[in-house]
Amino acid sequence: MKLLHIDSAATGTGSVTRELTAAIVARWEQAVPGLSVTYRDLDAQPLPHLTGPVLAQVDQAVAEAGEQAMQEFLDSDVIVMGAPMYNFSVPSTLKAWIDRVAVAGRTFRYTENGPEGLAKGKRLVIASGRGGIYGDNSPADFQEAYLRQVFGFLGITEIEFVRAEGVAYSPQHRTDALEGAKAAIAVPLREAA
Ligand SMILES: Cc1cc2nc3c(=O)[nH]c(=O)nc-3n(C[C@H](O)[C@H](O)[C@H](O)COP(=O)(O)O)c2cc1C
Repeated sequence: MKLLHIDSAATGTGSVTRELTAAIVARWEQAVPGLSVTYRDLDAQPLPHLTGPVLAQVDQAVAEAGEQAMQEFLDSDVIVMGAPMYNFSVPSTLKAWIDRVAVAGRTFRYTENGPEGLAKGKRLVIASGRGGIYGDNSPADFQEAYLRQVFGFLGITEIEFVRAEGVAYSPQHRTDALEGAKAAIAVPLREAA
């Protein structure tokens, strides 16, 4: 089984989502013997934004980097993704990665019956960090709702959120939210074992 571990937070060692993805991946490693883990840090090594020249594959090295990201995504059985809320959405580094893996003919296609996701059978676990408190289905949420939409569009039906929110309210809120999120990790792993 292959797990793709992605971090996108720009906040380094103080990152809530990095702490959560590390904990989630550690639990998966415990639960699945022989698990193969590929790590991608989108803050340390960001992919370029999807500009005209990138889309046209003018630069071979940039095209190859995009293809490598695509292959990692296609090869994975499980994706553990750190996705903090930045300005109500996701970090632009994560959006740049999504722009490389959401590709017509590779991970989705249009048919006479409408769109069809081609990245079926994968499991996506998203570590969500939020300074404020939004809960589920907030009209201000363009982060979790966006991720659910785009990966659902690609055919991923098993999407789980491990959420720490209200982390900016106070240090105690942050501690409590992290502990609560870590305690919730065990549930998906029991299903996977
Ligand atoms: C650039 C930036 C933008 C942010 N924008 C929001 C926001 O729109 N709404 C919110 O609730 N929190 C926002 N926050 C707070 C983060 O969502 C929160 O600190 C979360 O823990 C970030 O995850 P991280 O610690 O892994 O970076 C922002 C933080 C940063 C650094």
